Amino acid sequence: MITKVKKINRDASSEKDYEEASQILRNGGLVAFPTETVYGLGGDGLLASAAEKIYAAKGRPSDNPLIIHIADIESLALLTDEVPEQARKLADAFWPGPLTMIFKKSAKVPYGTTGGLETVAVRMPDHPVALDLIRNSGVLIAAPSANTSGRPSPTKADHVYEDLNGKIDMIIDGGSVGIGIESTIVDLTSSVPTILRPGFITKEMLEDVIGIVEIDKAILEKGVKDGLRPKAPGMKYKHYAPKGDLTLYDGEEDLVVEAINQAVKEKQKLNKKVGVIATDETKERYQADYVMSIGSRKNEQSIAKHLYGILRDFDHLEVEYIYGECFSSANFGQAIMNRLLKAAGYQVVKLSDKEGRDKVDELR
Ligand code: TXA
Ligand code: MG
Repeated sequence: MITKVKKINRDASSEKDYEEASQILRNGGLVAFPTETVYGLGGDGLLASAAEKIYAAKGRPSDNPLIIHIADIESLALLTDEVPEQARKLADAFWPGPLTMIFKKSAKVPYGTTGGLETVAVRMPDHPVALDLIRNSGVLIAAPSANTSGRPSPTKADHVYEDLNGKIDMIIDGGSVGIGIESTIVDLTSSVPTILRPGFITKEMLEDVIGIVEIDKAILEKGVKDGLRPKAPGMKYKHYAPKGDLTLYDGEEDLVVEAINQAVKEKQKLNKKVGVIATDETKERYQADYVMSIGSRKNEQSIAKHLYGILRDFDHLEVEYIYGECFSSANFGQAIMNRLLKAAGYQVVKLSDKEGRDKVDELR
């Protein structure tokens, strides 16, 4: 299959720009498109055969359900017969935006889209190209992140091309995304609303609108280690993994820099190619084959925005070992650390523990 790449200017597009993409979607084909979080791989959410094509293109297990994207609140009534009061409030507060809500599904939504579940995930993205594509095509677009399953989510059209060229009909290039990590998912079918995946919309922001919100314990570091089963099927897979072996270091800045430099040296002695994920504040302090800054500690949003891109950059450089710093897990930091920890397969050296410090001392 030949994958067409179509550039669309997010600030100046016309109906004509969407004609071909709309036709593809209406014919059951696949179009990747930008959203404010990451690029999505879109197909008709009400058509089981489109979902099948999405799973095939991504190499994704078909028990992992898709999010359906809508452009107006009226469309929600097609997807679910029950919109809880709390969902209305959250939609008013955060849609369009990086929030996905889980509802009981209506009969119209095929099990192919929901991975066999009785529930459906819905989101109204806050990106003019995504909204115009939904409106112009008249299709409610099911879209997972537009990466090959297990690779970092795409934050630019080039990333989509790298993974899916030849496997889908079209890629709409609308420039880099704004946020850089996937939407917050909140389940409103449980007795207490529960976050199944952290994102830009934090627990605190949700609680300001609807009161107490829980977080699925299975997605926290301890829950993962205890082998709890996440409520969002996709959270159980090893995800976002770079090809190199990534280890994170947690602790006071000077100690982290020293420990990472030591680890780099050890690997270089073995002739390994080594990279460091630094910050603007620390990047001058590392010696490795490649040192890349993920952003400034003073600007959490810059960190989220560069996270997946940097993992892909290290893949291109064929770095074998990667060392990185940890960040605060408060607020939006929870989403950032969730993705980083997953990318690292939860390999963290904690320099606040005696064991971690002893290791640094040993190598001094
Ligand atoms: O920001 C985003 O959400 C992006 C953009 C493209 O909108 N999409 C995205 O989709 O991240 P995906 O498929 O990569 O991740 C969807 C997650 C998966 O972990 C899936 O298991 C979960 O949502 N999910 C979908 N439907 C669900 C349902 N009915 N119940 C529980 N979890 C669900
Ligand atoms: Mg994904």
